[in-house]
Amino acid sequence: MSAVTVVDHPVLAHRVAQLRDRGTSGDTFRQLISEVSGLLAYEALRDLGTTEVTVDTPVADAAPARRVAEIVLLVPILRAGLGMVQAIQEIVPLTEVAHVGLRRDEATLRSEVYLNRLPKDLRGRRVIVCDPMLATGGSLVQVCDLVAARGASQVLALCILASERGLAAFAAAHPGVPVYCAAVDPGLNEAGFIVPGLGDAGDRLFGPPD
Ligand code: PRP
Repeated sequence: MSAVTVVDHPVLAHRVAQLRDRGTSGDTFRQLISEVSGLLAYEALRDLGTTEVTVDTPVADAAPARRVAEIVLLVPILRAGLGMVQAIQEIVPLTEVAHVGLRRDEATLRSEVYLNRLPKDLRGRRVIVCDPMLATGGSLVQVCDLVAARGASQVLALCILASERGLAAFAAAHPGVPVYCAAVDPGLNEAGFIVPGLGDAGDRLFGPPD
């Protein structure tokens, strides 16, 4: 089973409640997705690589300090994953972004890749796959398959909301990839929506696709 960390914090729980609320406006929903994403990234990257440096402060020369030395590759799953990127970039000093687009067939619930801008060689890279919703888990599994095929050395997934079934399916496919999320829900309905969930994150962020 891959490690699942449900980040348990009152300021996150408060925002998740607002995200779930059907009365939350699109503007506020976007802002909340962003804030929760930054907080999850902060928690997930405690082991980010740093180097020892010195800094001249206003009152002392060469004070010891640390700076982030590692460039993290963010892989947002379009569309909804896009809503997570900016906030993570504001928290994490060195990032690059590679977009992957997936569309889930509403009848079969299978995802199809329509865009893949992953670098060919990911050896030695730390990759964070970002998608607010882990429902059946199919989209995240496919993207992690693509990332693994390019040799990424360290992969983790940031989701805002996950279903129990989706987490189990993901763990079976990628037991070595930790998942960080803000909440886990028990249900998944026939349309593939997490229950109680927060609805369709992509539509609430960007409007209907067609
Ligand atoms: C939704 C969601 C995830 C995916 C989760 O995307 O944003 O990417 O489904 O489902 P899964 O775990 O069952 O694969 P959707 O296909 O609706 O696309 P969108 O983000 O463009 O709206």
